[in-house]
Amino acid sequence: MLIDHDGREYLDALAGLWNVILGHGRQELADAAQQQMSTLAYASGYTGSTTVPAIELGERLQQICYPAGEGRSPGWKGMGGFYFATSGAEAVDAAVKTARWWWKLQGKPDKTTVIGRRYGYHGTGFVAMSATGLPAYWPMFEPRMAGVEIAESPYPYRFDRAVHARGPDDPRTDGEMAADLVEAMIEHLGADRVACVVAEPVQGAGGVIVPPNDYWPRLRAICDRHHVLLVADEIITGFGRTGPWFALERWGVEPDLVCFAKGITSGYLPLAGVGFRHELAEAIRSAEGRETWMHAATYSGHPVACAVANTTLDLIEREGLRDRAAAAGEHLRRQLGSLTSLSHVGEVRGLGLMAAVELVADRSTREEFPAAERIGPRVHAATQARGMFSRLRGDVYNLAPCYPVETEQLDRMVDILGESIREVTGA
Ligand SMILES: Cc1ncc(COP(=O)(O)O)c(C=O)c1O
Repeated sequence: MLIDHDGREYLDALAGLWNVILGHGRQELADAAQQQMSTLAYASGYTGSTTVPAIELGERLQQICYPAGEGRSPGWKGMGGFYFATSGAEAVDAAVKTARWWWKLQGKPDKTTVIGRRYGYHGTGFVAMSATGLPAYWPMFEPRMAGVEIAESPYPYRFDRAVHARGPDDPRTDGEMAADLVEAMIEHLGADRVACVVAEPVQGAGGVIVPPNDYWPRLRAICDRHHVLLVADEIITGFGRTGPWFALERWGVEPDLVCFAKGITSGYLPLAGVGFRHELAEAIRSAEGRETWMHAATYSGHPVACAVANTTLDLIEREGLRDRAAAAGEHLRRQLGSLTSLSHVGEVRGLGLMAAVELVADRSTREEFPAAERIGPRVHAATQARGMFSRLRGDVYNLAPCYPVETEQLDRMVDILGESIREVTGA
């Protein structure tokens, strides 16, 4: 719950910005910060230095972030190291720089291009904005970074087979076709020019776009085939939002680099980071001279943020919150299903404890409302008037509450959204 300065209460249906995964007001997290601050508030985490909470956090992440072992891809040795930053955009920046660095180290200095995807959101820093596939973020800051391309999204509700198929008898599924569009872009650009693909396992801010199950394994195989690094942006999906610790687990895929942020401290302090697969981490550790991985910041591995992160991980484990998120998500999606009886609800979708309701002008054609009608913002205003707060992408209303959310609170969210849609669309 959020309470505004007039004392009005709101259901925080997006857990802040998808990040306050444990909910507001957890004393344990305040205590962890207080204790660390009164022990060692700051010490350099710049190259060559670190602190105990950052070491502990790195060791713990290695245990939960696609750990090596049974059921993994052949040759997978796990994540070999982590770099801690303060925002998601910074993490994406570090991952893209690392991809370029890696290819230079391999004697392939021309492999520099970055591929993002339509509807992807990676933040507003220059690299992150450039890889973001939501054009509204671009116009007043263009030109975007040179060497960033945007591929198609695996968006089941809006993927147009007729446009992308190689004829009416194309046997490929939509998921395979969407992955193949990334491959076509790599081939068009020339694999010897492409450094990495940056992609969210489930596109979050773009409207909780859950790809078909065959998409990610195919994308991984494409990246392997063309020697392109796969950067998973798990900034929303990490730390149990979809059930497993990291969402790509669900599809049996391991990325070369993983970006995380948000839930790692439950939003109580800014912390983000990048995980490097074993081979990359080893290379970072051993590079010297001109080849050194020259990347760090004043607040890299901030000890207070890392202490709060360690306590966040403790609480997720101790309170079984990943299972709780999965169960709450199932309940939420089931309840949201009732909204499909409304004539302007085009689709209800989601995975784990993230869901979206897409509103359309015409359900049979999936036609969007004219932007000038501002249906989404009006629905948002109506939900706010009823005591709920979240965010949208156009006319897609996103929900991602905290993991300990109560069943009655989920039901109330669905009621408020339904009443608001009815009020605005008159149907
Ligand atoms: C998937 C994803 N990547 C990156 C970011 C950027 O994170 P930050 O706002 O901390 O820079 C966000 C923020 O919402 C995000 O959802």
